[in-house]
Amino acid sequence: MEKEHRYMATDRMSDLITDNFSLLMVMSRFGLKLGFGDQTVKGVCEEQGVDTHTFLAVANFLNEGQLSYVDDEQVSLTSLMNYLKNAHSYFLDFNLPTIRRKLIEALNLASRDNVGMLILKFFDEYVEEVRNHMEYENNEVFNYVSELLEGRLSETYDILTYSSHHDEIDSKLNELKNIIIKYYPESGNSNLMNSVLYDIFNCEQDLKSHGEVEDFMFVPAVEREERRVKNEH
Ligand SMILES: [Fe+2]
Ligand SMILES: [Fe+2]
Repeated sequence: MEKEHRYMATDRMSDLITDNFSLLMVMSRFGLKLGFGDQTVKGVCEEQGVDTHTFLAVANFLNEGQLSYVDDEQVSLTSLMNYLKNAHSYFLDFNLPTIRRKLIEALNLASRDNVGMLILKFFDEYVEEVRNHMEYENNEVFNYVSELLEGRLSETYDILTYSSHHDEIDSKLNELKNIIIKYYPESGNSNLMNSVLYDIFNCEQDLKSHGEVEDFMFVPAVEREERRVKNEH
């Protein structure tokens, strides 16, 4: 596929993945399973009960970046929220714990190296921040939106409260990367450590685009829903 190509419902799903393998993540966060043969995007989505339009909107957003995104009224808020929820559990229950395990192995903590312990401590504190951030979204924000989707407005909360305090959670990973690169103890296993660094680079990018989907796709969609519910009252 050429660079300028926007993904469309009639494209083959397998072509999307070969074009940009990070879309594998998007698929699984929408709950789409592999093994779809030569089916089109629309075919795979419909067969597996996923909103084709929202899947494509996210795939194109991640592929082209926030600057070319035009707020899209047809995005399904329910679908987008599910996608974000699944991304949260991917980060908290799979990706970050996997990085932690690899980090421990690569740091060779048995050597009682203080730098290793500090790196691990830094990582753990970081994960705690990510957990608080995502649990707040899962519990407060998504509950608010679910109520809104049922036509109920809150008197104490709105999406602006969320969007005006929504911070970036990827920048601290950048700090961690720098600490490792600059101070990694000589006693460590550098093949293992490079592999963890790759994972951290990926995770950082993944968290960054996750936050952008929230800011540029999710928030405007919720604002639209707020206006709709207000007009009905
Ligand atoms: Fe999030
Ligand atoms: Fe967030």
